[in-house]
Amino acid sequence: MTTPPKPAARAERVSLWRYVRLFRQDILSAQPARLYRAWMAEFRTPFFRSFLVNQPELVKTVLKDRPDDFPKSGRVSEGLRPLLGESVFLTNGAQWKRQRRIIDPAFEGGRLKDTFPAMWAAAEACVARLATRTDAPIEIEEETSHAAADVIFRTLFSIPIEHEIAAETFTRFRDYQRSSPILNIAAFIPLPRWLPRFHSRRTKTAARDIRALIARLTGDRQAMIADGTAPDDLATKIMTTPDPETGARFTTEEMVDQVAIFFLAGHETSASALAWTLYLMATHPDWQERLAEEAQALDTDQGFSVMAKLKLSRDTFREALRLYPPVPMMVREASCPERFRDRDVPKGAQIVLSPWHLHRHERLWDNPDGFDPARYQSDNGRRCMREAYVPFSAGARVCPGAGFAMVEGPLILSMILRRFRIEPAGEVPVPVAHLTVRSQAGIWLRLVRR
Ligand code: HEM
Repeated sequence: MTTPPKPAARAERVSLWRYVRLFRQDILSAQPARLYRAWMAEFRTPFFRSFLVNQPELVKTVLKDRPDDFPKSGRVSEGLRPLLGESVFLTNGAQWKRQRRIIDPAFEGGRLKDTFPAMWAAAEACVARLATRTDAPIEIEEETSHAAADVIFRTLFSIPIEHEIAAETFTRFRDYQRSSPILNIAAFIPLPRWLPRFHSRRTKTAARDIRALIARLTGDRQAMIADGTAPDDLATKIMTTPDPETGARFTTEEMVDQVAIFFLAGHETSASALAWTLYLMATHPDWQERLAEEAQALDTDQGFSVMAKLKLSRDTFREALRLYPPVPMMVREASCPERFRDRDVPKGAQIVLSPWHLHRHERLWDNPDGFDPARYQSDNGRRCMREAYVPFSAGARVCPGAGFAMVEGPLILSMILRRFRIEPAGEVPVPVAHLTVRSQAGIWLRLVRR
């Protein structure tokens, strides 16, 4: 049994400038090891104060009990504004509440069943692509990104990733990410407000191009809705749902903002989770065989009901989300003075929530760094799952795609393991946090036909 890779922590004491440098490289290895044991940690610098909150009760206060008092920090938006405009990921207050009232119904339980055939088709397409690449080492993050992007386009717009606009959007998103990472440094190290923020010309051009592509999709869809020929997918649902309080629908411009975040939040995260899950399978062949056996259920049951039979797959995906939460940290801002653990938290302080550290907290989890999908059947696992497990965040701002991702991930995982045996085929991957938690030099695996 191998211990899943974990980035080396930095020395306990470093200068501010060294911290900033480390931070630019990777926010995970920039942190000291004590965060895996601490309930709270304060970072005090000449520019800012931020508090990393790692105690379940405090996480609950911020995310679940009083989310309005801890809005999303405006600084997190810096790198994303050109692309995402006023999307639900960035807004706060009344505007955000209105957007969620329109979006949430599209992701309710019943709707998941409706999107299942599209997910199934994307999973089959993924297996068919992989079948052409067996026996030689392949970089699996590329493949999972492709598959997750395919899921989004098929469920949202009823088009596969090969569709001309879908393929172009996917490529341009990559350019955007290279030029402007989501976790840009401004998010965690608030620079003085007077300092102007510059987006490179490349970032602005990529954002404009992506938005133009999405505008074509939403414009076409608007026309299909008007003449009654629109397919019954997520885009149609969201574009035709009126706000239950005001009756207003999303404007075309607002819909572009929302589609951009569905694509970004929905494919990068799932791709990261699936890639790490496959790596964990390659390094834990006993679990891999158990899942492959369970996956035979897919031979006979191809409807949504099969998901109830993929229990090991679900627990394995859940365990991968614990060890490698795709969104490793989230930032909020204290909108009024607070007192946390007998310390003053001033108004405007950054509150950092770290799924990465909470999920491996040494005082909470049994065997925190080990891979053990069976833990969720134990008392400790069940308790931690309630109190210290937030891969999708929690409370009012919880990821609306959580249920969707918990179908997509285990389904694609089982589909792959049904057809292929997976082996590690390269260096042990080193996790780093860029847009999501990825491996520094990719995740290299070999797939062998079963
Ligand atoms: C394994 C897959 C996924 C993970 C781990 C994940 C995780 C998260 C997390 C942690 C947040 C909260 C971020 C914050 O508050 O700073 C979030 C928000 C969000 N996610 Fe996901 N997500 C996943 C898949 C998806 C999918 C498939 C979709 C849509 C199709 C989606 C759409 C969104 C949206 C729209 C938000 C913003 C919600 C708001 O701020 O009100 N996510 N996600």
